[in-house]
Amino acid sequence: MAEPPAIISVQGVSKRFGGITAVDRVSLDIRQNEFFALLGPSGCGKTTLLRMLAGFETPDEGGVLIDGQDMTDVPPNRRPVNMVFQSYAVFPHMSVFDNVAYGLRVANTPSGEIGERVHEALAMVRLSEQAERKPDQLSGGQRQRVALARALVKRPKVLLLDEPLSALDAKLREAMQLELVRLQHTVGITFIIVTHDQHEALSMANRIAVMEAGQVRQVDGPAQLYEFPGSRFVADFIGKMNLFPARVVDRKGTELMVEVEGLGRLTLPGQAPHLGGPCGVEVPVGQDVGIAVRPEKVHIHSDGVPDGRIALRGRVSEVAYFGDASHVYLRLDSGQVISANIRNETRTSDPSVRAGEVLWCSWDPKDTLILDR
Ligand SMILES: Nc1ncnc2c1ncn2[C@@H]1O[C@H](COP(=O)(O)OP(=O)(O)O)[C@@H](O)[C@H]1O
Ligand SMILES: [Mg+2]
Repeated sequence: MAEPPAIISVQGVSKRFGGITAVDRVSLDIRQNEFFALLGPSGCGKTTLLRMLAGFETPDEGGVLIDGQDMTDVPPNRRPVNMVFQSYAVFPHMSVFDNVAYGLRVANTPSGEIGERVHEALAMVRLSEQAERKPDQLSGGQRQRVALARALVKRPKVLLLDEPLSALDAKLREAMQLELVRLQHTVGITFIIVTHDQHEALSMANRIAVMEAGQVRQVDGPAQLYEFPGSRFVADFIGKMNLFPARVVDRKGTELMVEVEGLGRLTLPGQAPHLGGPCGVEVPVGQDVGIAVRPEKVHIHSDGVPDGRIALRGRVSEVAYFGDASHVYLRLDSGQVISANIRNETRTSDPSVRAGEVLWCSWDPKDTLILDR
């Protein structure tokens, strides 16, 4: 099946502010109807990249195509995109209806058309019943939906959202995440969301670009990014990771023998090569690597580790309780610490998992990642 066409094509774009390179040679294709996330730590250039799509900043190098059209000489108000800002502002003295109608009135939209389009936008964000209210009669989540309706009423091809949920508390945030996913399905246009919150990106987006220091480090679907990060940076930024320094010492067919500092020799199955850092079959003998495993892949045993698993002994140094799960920290005989996440599947969890106990941990060799070091 052919890939849907790119609605946005970012081609070798850089942006500098004085001595700072905020965006550094970024190339990216975003497809029609995607829910796309730009994810990265604060200051990595996410907002600057989004502002270049909207036309509020001009690239120093490279260019942006939207729907196949070069945007170089196209001002913000003529681009088929609309932006919802980090600090969403709604006019407090206007009703919800007038807030949403405002942009259309400014653009001299025929008045006969305004009512219909405002009602359509309010229905999309499920605020039809609140049309005559003032913003101070709304909840935080409803005000955020007014801001969304104001952007959608202009019928953009792409909606740009810069940390749209950062002002909301945790519960409301989660509800709005679901709401935005539903909205994107309903409206059927491309959403590009900027966030520094990995959970937000993983749960909402169908593809994510992970950025670091102005550059895009990896673009993939959520599960691919989490389970097959192409570099140590991505592995560390998305979720938690146990990482041990190691060196590749031998290769037999697709199997890789690695000497892990403090842990000895491990045999790892061949891994499919992919984007980013050195991985599996691509890694030459003699190369320094990082051996990594996610905490939830590590199991804890009081005795008897099943065959075929990598097994290490250690003493529990700490147990952090989170209700549904506990994070267990095990100090290995080598002195290194490994973390294992265990699910508290019954109300009385295993009494042997407490600080001071000597236990085993294990993982399936297939769950080991080979990363750059
Ligand atoms: N208008 C500006 N003038 C000077 N420096 C800026 C400006 N906008 C952004 N920067 C700098 O560019 C870098 C990227 O910023 P930004 O795109 O806001 O990052 P993010 O949104 O990922 O937090 C930061 O170092 C920031 O200080
Ligand atoms: Mg920002």
